[in-house]
Amino acid sequence: MHDVTAIAAPQIQPAVGKNSNPRYTELYRRYPTIDYLRRAARHKLPHFAFEYGDGGSGKDDAGIRRNWAALDAIELLPRYGVMPSLPPCDVELFGRRYAAPTGVAPMGSPAIVWPGADRHLARAAQRARIPYVLGMAGGATIEEIAAIAPDVCWFQLYRAANNDHAIGFDLLRRAAATACNTLVLTLDVPVRTTRAREVVVGLGGAFRPDLKMLAQMAMAPGWTSALWKNGIPRFASLRSYAGTNPSINDVIAFARREMGGAFTWEEVAKYRHRWNKTLIVKGILHPEDAEKAVALGVDGLFVSNHGGRQIEALPAAIDALPAIVKQVGKRATVMMDSGIRSGTDVVRAYALGAAAAFAGKAFLWGLGALGEEGPGHVIDLLIEETQGALGQLGARKPDEVRSVEIRHTAALQF
Ligand SMILES: Cc1cc2nc3c(=O)[nH]c(=O)nc-3n(C[C@H](O)[C@H](O)[C@H](O)COP(=O)(O)O)c2cc1C
Repeated sequence: MHDVTAIAAPQIQPAVGKNSNPRYTELYRRYPTIDYLRRAARHKLPHFAFEYGDGGSGKDDAGIRRNWAALDAIELLPRYGVMPSLPPCDVELFGRRYAAPTGVAPMGSPAIVWPGADRHLARAAQRARIPYVLGMAGGATIEEIAAIAPDVCWFQLYRAANNDHAIGFDLLRRAAATACNTLVLTLDVPVRTTRAREVVVGLGGAFRPDLKMLAQMAMAPGWTSALWKNGIPRFASLRSYAGTNPSINDVIAFARREMGGAFTWEEVAKYRHRWNKTLIVKGILHPEDAEKAVALGVDGLFVSNHGGRQIEALPAAIDALPAIVKQVGKRATVMMDSGIRSGTDVVRAYALGAAAAFAGKAFLWGLGALGEEGPGHVIDLLIEETQGALGQLGARKPDEVRSVEIRHTAALQF
């Protein structure tokens, strides 16, 4: 028989949720789920900003819809009679305690969706104690973000291989000099693909607002005032390499020249050699690639299809997850992203063996609906829903959900 008095209290008390955010109830009544934030973001943002954050690749965002449908299709069978109160959902990742098995996935130029986004995301993640992955193509430097979010900051790199990785290795050196303890190498963007919604709103290349974009900005006063305050710095971590006092478009052009292709396994090995803290690869969908990464000494990986932003023919990350957990789960920390829109989705991924399930677009919808308050509300919703789903399933802590019966008929078999 379970000893219900032995249920552990949460080991850390994150400053989130209805107990600490005085506006939580008000926000919750307007935005009780992440879908409500998406709907509001569509109306409140300049059209181009929403399209940048919300769109995917290929025809009709089919990859995004596949991620959502695959998660929705997973059923978890509850056990009752054991769960008297809301369970804690804090977890350990790479030796650090986090408030929930979720985090903010790396994003390039989230500041297009909401100027100042990188800093708002970092602040909210630090307050709540969930991981925040700063994108190399983000709008704040690794030094700034590590100062804002010293306990939760991770840093993502794309390949910048010119002059024997001069910039990539220098970014690694800079990250090592900050509080950032985790480096994420993205492998799943070997080529640039078309994201149609970005192209038609005029975001295909340099940032040159045309009349249409200016008219959209004029209709979005919240966004425009955030623009006055923050500007839209892009590739901020790369700015210092791009010459004296470069303009935003100089930095964009420089970044396009320097960044390209995706890391080869030989290059992953070089980064492993130089980085002695936690190393993660992102974008894995095949168990044999997971095996290669682990053989090179990588500590963790993200099963991901880049949120449906590369090509729409990729399988849903959640469907690739179980086989990858089976292959390397005992030797590395397997996490996932792509399609997470609720704490229930986080619990689905956790039940299937993910140590954490991160979200990207959900945080952009939060920013679009609520500006700088948005990321905190998304985190509050994710945590409360995670606890709610664990409780409903009779799991007194996250690990117990791994023993529920799961129907996952689309799981990839290798
Ligand atoms: C606007 C946007 C920009 C992104 N930029 C990056 C990036 O610079 N590096 C990266 O590794 N992933 C990037 N991603 C992918 C995310 O890290 C993550 O894999 C994806 O968003 C997860 O799917 P979701 O949006 O359905 O949660 C980006 C995603 C979005 C939405």
